[in-house]
Amino acid sequence: MYTQALDLPPGPEDKAQPVRLAPSADEASLQAQFDRRIDADGRIEPQDWMPEAYRKTLVRQISQHAHSEIVGMLPEGNWISRAPSLKRKAILIAKVQDEGGHGLYLYSAAETLGTSRDEMLAALHSGRAKYSSIFNYPTLNWADVGVIGWLVDGAAIMNQIPLCRCSYGPYARAMVRVCKEESFHQRQGYEALLAMMQGTDEQKAMVQDAVNRWWWKCLAMFGPPDADSPNSAQGMRWGIKRISNDNLRQKFVDATVPQAKVLGVTLPDPDLKWNEERQQHDYGAIDWDEFWATVNGEGPCNKERLATRVKAWNDGQWLRDAALAHARKQQQRTQKEAA
Ligand code: 3HC
Repeated sequence: MYTQALDLPPGPEDKAQPVRLAPSADEASLQAQFDRRIDADGRIEPQDWMPEAYRKTLVRQISQHAHSEIVGMLPEGNWISRAPSLKRKAILIAKVQDEGGHGLYLYSAAETLGTSRDEMLAALHSGRAKYSSIFNYPTLNWADVGVIGWLVDGAAIMNQIPLCRCSYGPYARAMVRVCKEESFHQRQGYEALLAMMQGTDEQKAMVQDAVNRWWWKCLAMFGPPDADSPNSAQGMRWGIKRISNDNLRQKFVDATVPQAKVLGVTLPDPDLKWNEERQQHDYGAIDWDEFWATVNGEGPCNKERLATRVKAWNDGQWLRDAALAHARKQQQRTQKEAA
């Protein structure tokens, strides 16, 4: 099951435990059984046999997703102390806290695959692990907070709803709750922008400026075009990904255009237009060089984001030490009572 506990470093009593190796039964027959279940759209659970590549892909995707949630707390967290009213502050605190919760469910889901939270966090802190490109851009004013809710969380839901049907049980179940909360996040962002669009000309201009700065970054968030996406084909074959990067991006554009109209903003793309034949919108070219530079550490806030996470981890060392000491004490007490 999911663990919510801190990872206890192995004590002497743990050393004797055998490492769980591949079962002795014929691997080909286990693989065939796994394939049949995937083909039948069944679920794989932590105790089931799975190919190592499937396990590795899941750990990669789920841990990146968890890191995105945790790093994603930072751009909006900057605005908690500067929210324009008590109501907006309370909403923003709840939202940022939700993102922290999402990270914790996802780390727990990844732990069921045999990778510890400490290992995942070490990968994040050393810069080896990825997290979503979108969180490496600055939030310059209050309208950015609304636009993150509307567009960033809107893009996140579009990507994450299909993950509720992911073939790996713990990930799929975690996503159900995450998506419910993301949906609230998207609406609160849109509602905050609607309020600003009924305000002064300066407020309207702030909203338009924020939309202009975030739009293209949100389109890139869905990942590289299908033709340049090395993980997509296998991820779809395994039922981890259900809808391709390009198809999700298209669904997001089609869903967002009418929302922009109601809000009264324009989307900064001269090539954006309805294509009668395709019954979808055409849209302009995404700057993939900028996307890859950001993914590879050269975005405007990459260094700041990582430094903030590393500092938070180091500052929390005393708490982890205390929790571990308490857990060990409890364990010893239980063992003594059982003896
Ligand atoms: N930012 C950073 N890296 C990205 C990226 C992005 N927006 N999109 C793709 N990449 C990376 C991939 O991780 C992969 O790198 P790797 O092989 O070293 O891991 C590489 O680019 C090639 O991309 P692929 O399309 O081949 O990779 P995937 O098949 O894994 O698809 C994905 C990428 C669509 C992001 C997929 O992993 C996914 O659906 N992940 C789960 C959802 C998620 O992580 N969302 C992040 C945002 S969460 C969020 O926004 C929080 C919310 O509260 C706002």
